[in-house]
Amino acid sequence: MERTLSIIKPDAVERNFVGQIISRFEAQGLRPVAMRMMHLSQKEAEGFYAVHSERPFFKDLVSFMTRSPVVVMVLEGEGAVARNREIMGATNPENAAEGTIRKDFAKNIEENSVHGSDSPENAAIEIAYFFRSTEIC
Ligand code: TYD
Repeated sequence: MERTLSIIKPDAVERNFVGQIISRFEAQGLRPVAMRMMHLSQKEAEGFYAVHSERPFFKDLVSFMTRSPVVVMVLEGEGAVARNREIMGATNPENAAEGTIRKDFAKNIEENSVHGSDSPENAAIEIAYFFRSTEIC
C-alpha cells in the first residue's frame, strides 16, 4: 500500500466538483484516509510550490491557489502515486487522456482542478506538509 497527496484546487471547488472528483478516486482503487477543506494562505501556497518559485507562472499559481478553498487529501492504494497521476491526466488538459479528471474538469494548464504528488518521496514530504500522522486514518 502506498500513499499520495491530492488537492482539489479552487477552480474545481468553486464549480462544486468535489464529490465527483472524490468518486473517481474511489471508483479507481484509491481510498481517502485523511481529508480537510481549507483556504490556503499565501505563505502556505508559496511553501507548497517552493520548487516552482523561479518559474514564470509562480506568482499567478500562488494567486490562483489562494483564491478560494481547496480540499487536501491523503489517498491510499496500490501504487497510489502513479495511479493518482493516471486518474488526474496530463498537466495541460489539452493533452490529458479521455476519461481523466483534468480532461473532464480542468479549465486550462493553470486552473487544472487537481494536484497529485509526482513521486513517493515527494508524496511523503507533501503529506507531512498538511497532515500530522495522527490525522491519517
Ligand atoms: P507541474 O508540477 O509541472 O505539474 P503537475 O501539477 O501536473 O505535477 O506544475 C505544477 C502546477 O503549476 C500545475 O499543476 C499548474 C501550474 N503550471 C502553470 O500554471 N503553468 C505551466 O506552464 C506549468 C508547467 C504549470
